[in-house]
Amino acid sequence: MPASKRRRKTKDPSGVGLPGGGGGGGAKRSPALILVALAAALGAGAFLMLQTTDVKTINVHVPSLTAKATAGQKVFNATCAECHGDNAAGGPAGPPLITSTYHPGHHADGAFRRAVALGVPQHHWKFGNMPPQPKVSGAEIDALIAFIRELQKANGIY
Ligand code: HEC
Repeated sequence: MPASKRRRKTKDPSGVGLPGGGGGGGAKRSPALILVALAAALGAGAFLMLQTTDVKTINVHVPSLTAKATAGQKVFNATCAECHGDNAAGGPAGPPLITSTYHPGHHADGAFRRAVALGVPQHHWKFGNMPPQPKVSGAEIDALIAFIRELQKANGIY
């Protein structure tokens, strides 16, 4: 008891001395209100995570690839990995592609061809738009698709 009294005594003057220090003068908020605000913030956060981005990188197991997929891997590393990350595991400017979102039932091979030819307006994520990749040839797209599908299979996407 005496210890806490002493503490208070030493604290008080410094609190007064600091400009804006102490912060005790502000209106007191009800704890219930703070709880409600917290719950709302948490709920919004969870909602955002489910809805959109915040998937950072995922762990992608790379199986032994067919020759075609190996060719696709080279194209991917040269052209796509700067956004989608190594082995399409997700990167700073693009989503991972080895997820159920890009399961062939959701994004068939045509979606890959379209993405490369026309780009992709932002819709699933919050990374912005994907610009078209005009340097990638048709044969390279086939190889890219083989690469992505083999990774998806090896990682249990389908
Ligand atoms: C400048 C960054 C960037 C590069 C380079 C890039 N992408 Fe993307 N890509 C994105 C973003 C961002 C999205 C997600 C758009 C959304 O759904 O919000 C995306 C989405 C996709 C999709 C999903 C398309 C759909 O229909 O939803 C595919 C497939 C894809 N990219 C393949 C590729 C391939 C293959 C390459 C390389 C040839 C590549 N991307 C290069 C940024 C990039």
